[in-house]
Amino acid sequence: MSQTISKSAKQTQTIAAKLARQLSGQEILCLTGELGSGKTTFIQGLAKELNIKDNITSPTFVIYKKYKAKNNLNFYHFDLYRIQEPQEILDLGFEEIINNKKNIIAIEWSEKIKDLLPNKNIIYIKFEYLDKNKRKIIIASKK
Ligand SMILES: Nc1ncnc2c1ncn2[C@@H]1O[C@H](COP(=O)(O)OP(=O)(O)O)[C@@H](O)[C@H]1O
Ligand SMILES: [Mg+2]
Repeated sequence: MSQTISKSAKQTQTIAAKLARQLSGQEILCLTGELGSGKTTFIQGLAKELNIKDNITSPTFVIYKKYKAKNNLNFYHFDLYRIQEPQEILDLGFEEIINNKKNIIAIEWSEKIKDLLPNKNIIYIKFEYLDKNKRKIIIASKK
């Protein structure tokens, strides 16, 4: 487990880039923390390190977006803020997505589907808002 205080959005992205270099496929990154705590900012840092050129924003009108990443990997960005029932993501083929070794999955508001998550290859990332530019970031993984 690691715990860091990030003092800027840029620093949060640097922390994310460092984590991205350790990913090889089939990891599920579970991001929790209130609105504005830095989840999407962190995902932008991950995406950049994974060679994704698109500008990543929260997928407001869809539950997830898929991007082509380096080493023939796919990067999935889920934002579950608006889902009502966990079943909604099963209907989108969640099981197939997480079972593909070529997929790296980042899920904002992952607590909404905690019963659907496997018990390995999980990286928990918790964000706490401290003040305008300061966030506590706690990373813990379950291999
Ligand atoms: N240390 C920091 N880490 C991450 N974001 C920060 C930090 N300091 C300020 N911010 C700002 O806070 C906001 C975080 O928004 P966002 O990443 O969309 O949060 P979330 O996805 O958790 O709702 C951004 O506007 C970002 O620039
Ligand atoms: Mg967000």
